[in-house]
Amino acid sequence: MALFGKKNANYISSKETKRISRENRRVTGEIEKKRNRKNIPESEYLTRMKNPANVVEFDDVHTYFFTDIGTVKAVNGVSFEVPQGKTVGIVGESGCGKSVTSLSLMQLVQRPQGQTVAGEIRFNAGEKVYNIVNTPTSVMQKLRGNEMSMIFQEPMTALNPVFRIGDQVDEIVALHNPSMSREQVKERTIEMLEMVGIANSQGVYRMYPHELSGGMRQRVCIAIGLACNPKLIIADEPTTALDVTIQAQILDLMRSLKDKINSSIMLITHDLGVIAEMADYVVVMYAGRVVEKGTAQEIFKTPSHPYTIGLMRSKPVVGKQVEKLYSIPGKVPNPINMPDYCYFKDRCELSCEKCGGRYPGVIKLSPTHEVSCYRYEDRREAGWLAQVELGASGRERQQEEKGKEGARHE
Ligand SMILES: Nc1ncnc2c1ncn2[C@@H]1O[C@H](COP(=O)(O)OP(=O)(O)OP(=O)(O)O)[C@@H](O)[C@H]1O
Ligand SMILES: [Mg+2]
Repeated sequence: MALFGKKNANYISSKETKRISRENRRVTGEIEKKRNRKNIPESEYLTRMKNPANVVEFDDVHTYFFTDIGTVKAVNGVSFEVPQGKTVGIVGESGCGKSVTSLSLMQLVQRPQGQTVAGEIRFNAGEKVYNIVNTPTSVMQKLRGNEMSMIFQEPMTALNPVFRIGDQVDEIVALHNPSMSREQVKERTIEMLEMVGIANSQGVYRMYPHELSGGMRQRVCIAIGLACNPKLIIADEPTTALDVTIQAQILDLMRSLKDKINSSIMLITHDLGVIAEMADYVVVMYAGRVVEKGTAQEIFKTPSHPYTIGLMRSKPVVGKQVEKLYSIPGKVPNPINMPDYCYFKDRCELSCEKCGGRYPGVIKLSPTHEVSCYRYEDRREAGWLAQVELGASGRERQQEEKGKEGARHE
């Protein structure tokens, strides 16, 4: 009995669940009804870029999942840009909303429970600019593959187990090049398979996905993604399943293809090494929000948000002896009941009194470097934090600094 005596704060009664799911059906039903109208006029989904040099502009995007136990705010006010011809790296710990951000851009979030409920995602397709949030599915089908394509996180699930590799790649090539003959399509498929480093391309053409290793499967996925020379390549952990040498080759391949067709890459990864090698700009996400963004140089040289600082400290450095690698204490708050204050506060070694207030606004540290943290309201402090050595614990440093300041005043 003792086990059940204490009331769990997360407990939801079946009555409550029913009420939530009824409410969810009402909300998602309305959105779906609006989306499924026939002949939606272009004026509802065409828009203009804020800066025409960008391929994509995320502007305060909110993507929620309406589940029976509450609303998961997976992406909760994300804003960043992907400039033409550049690579933007997105980092953040598992579950922070990286994949959902990219799926929102492709309109592939699991519907009807997953919905982008607010904000704009502007996609620059050359002649026209689309607000993806309002774009009807029929138009999206033309954009996906031709203009933007995605290399998925799990190669196991991205390929269809009942079709041969050749058929799956052929289908994409043929769909986007209707004028090609069967032979030409096959030739292009073999060429793509060779381009991504599959030696036995003729053999693999006739194989089923289960006959390939994980790395080979991922290379097939990359071949499919790159088959139509898209303007934007979204790569969600593209090299996680590959060994280090192949990883380097694939990254080189993506980079050279990007330059050849002047496309841009949105690169999602846990691997800061990959980001350092590939990215021009870095976006750091935490619990569905962007906490810091800037050029790769700025993020690696002067990480400013305490979470980014922690992230940099938790990566091993060759030649540097440490007893134990740093790990950020605590865990991410429950996505269903997010606090009103900074989401990182409870894990933050540098938190101060102000952090208990409402969620911090965006502060510009340079024209390209932005951070959401109360510590930078006073820019003087920014200079200090940027210079701190990443070794000692934050609180010690903070106290040291306060001590010094006191001594100066005396
Ligand atoms: N279909 C879904 N239904 C309900 N919640 C979902 C669904 N898909 C994702 N979520 C939630 O959205 C949040 C963000 O998930 P997402 O997949 O974007 O994380 P991620 O940053 O890509 O993590 P990882 O690095 O592990 O891939 C998580 O809290 C997850 O539980
Ligand atoms: Mg993911």
